[in-house]
Amino acid sequence: MAIQTRYTGLIERYQDRLPVTASTKFISLGEGNTPLIKLQHIPRLIGKEVEIYVKYEGLNPTGSFKDRGMTLAVTKAVEAGSQAIICASTGNTSASAAAYAVRAGIRAFVLIPEGKIALGKLAQTLMYGAEIIQINGNFDQGMALVKEVANHAPVTIVNSINPFRIEGQKTAAFEIVDELGDAPDYHCLPVGNAGNITAYWKGYSEYYADKIANKQPIMCGYQAAGSAPFVKGSMVDNPETVATAIRIGHPQSWDLAWNVQEQSKGWFDKCSDAQILAAQKMLSQYEGIFCEPASATSLAGVLQDLSHGKIKEGTKIVCTLTGNGLKDPDTAITQCKSTHPVTIEANLDAVKKAILDQM
Ligand code: F0G
Repeated sequence: MAIQTRYTGLIERYQDRLPVTASTKFISLGEGNTPLIKLQHIPRLIGKEVEIYVKYEGLNPTGSFKDRGMTLAVTKAVEAGSQAIICASTGNTSASAAAYAVRAGIRAFVLIPEGKIALGKLAQTLMYGAEIIQINGNFDQGMALVKEVANHAPVTIVNSINPFRIEGQKTAAFEIVDELGDAPDYHCLPVGNAGNITAYWKGYSEYYADKIANKQPIMCGYQAAGSAPFVKGSMVDNPETVATAIRIGHPQSWDLAWNVQEQSKGWFDKCSDAQILAAQKMLSQYEGIFCEPASATSLAGVLQDLSHGKIKEGTKIVCTLTGNGLKDPDTAITQCKSTHPVTIEANLDAVKKAILDQM
């Protein structure tokens, strides 16, 4: 019988393709190796002949794809002797940075926009014990401050401008090719700072160069309509969207993402908040997959581009679902207002009636 190898995390699994050595101490929480789930009902519901897979990154240790980059960024920060990390965040990066800092025994400082991060992300960051600095401003302003302060204080930035974040995150593309046997035809992602789309493209390109994949996907980046600098073609100063994770108007990986678009013959497009929330609900109610609003932007974009015929039938599509639905309970509950549970008496007759009334 073959012996199953249990990897502790993505650095261990893909160490030959990552900037680590035999003496590097891996800071890991068992991230990566997330499920690639084939949608069973949605393609039929929309009447399209396509295979849609979702890469469910919400099952990483802190509930988002950020852990892929953070394990390597913190590993390298510690290797370089850093005692503290810092980031600006719409919530997920801060939760991830905070957790990996604890694991490494170093400190984490996180700048977050007051009132604009989802409840679950705040809860996590508080519990991990990070130094939280709330600002009266948005992510873009926080990011500018982080870059400035890092020139004056002994802290390592762990936003996706840290190249090790991109290196770690490219492993998601490796996992997809390893599982499907090749790259998909299209890879669709929500775009904020555009670090993740850059990372996936790097992963696919490396596997293609080494002939592990026979092709490279068309990369499709989707933004929320109120925060869509890549669609506008210039920065947005007051971004707004219900998908707070991607409420970003000044993306940090601007040039890199345009290169991805050009090299992959892909595109950027936008979806309204209503489309995003509808896609989030569809995934929950028809597939049993609960992701946060920002994550559903990838599927919202696919549904839109399939209906226009921009994404062709007879193809294989992968959507990254970047974060877990539990991150943002407020938006979920607000969305389900009309289906709020009723309360009845605690006796058999009342429960029997409640069930029979529903059948
Ligand atoms: N989806 C989720 C759930 C996110 O948290 C983010 C980014 C993105 C998509 C966009 O990824 O920036 O690489 O294009 N969140 C960052 C944060 C900004 O601070 O947690 P990107």
